[in-house]
Amino acid sequence: MWVKIRPMQTILVLHGPNLNLLGAREPGIYGATTLEEIDRRLCERGAQRGAAVTPFQSNWEGALIDRIHAARQDGTEGLIINPGGLTHTSVSLRDALAAAALPFIEVHLSNVYAREPFRQVSYLSPIALGVISGLGARGYELALDYLLDKD
Ligand code: DQA
Repeated sequence: MWVKIRPMQTILVLHGPNLNLLGAREPGIYGATTLEEIDRRLCERGAQRGAAVTPFQSNWEGALIDRIHAARQDGTEGLIINPGGLTHTSVSLRDALAAAALPFIEVHLSNVYAREPFRQVSYLSPIALGVISGLGARGYELALDYLLDKD
């Protein structure tokens, strides 16, 4: 009997500006879970499923773009990104993701569609594989499961 052995999958998790303050930042909107806890859960979940999860947070647009460029050549197979406020402003972040041509899921802790009108516009969504918004920290785990389950 042949058993198909799948090589380890590598997923990059990107967090944009201000997400380093999770837990303390507007907990009524973004929840009480810290970014460290979110990343820990994702790394553990990935490890259980034989995948390497690499988290990266920056408050700098250029640092996020540089990390996406690096992902083109470091074996990354998929991305989860919460771009924070850059969601609603950054053509450059979208261009970097388009250039990387890797499947990505856009995640928001809050339901951006139930908030201010400026949050209801995303420069990234049209090129995302999918978008999860409003499911809190759980959204990242669902995104990871989806990326790992898809062929
Ligand atoms: C966010 C929503 C954005 O509008 C906001 O600027 C953030 C967080 C979210 O996770 O709900 O920083 O991406």
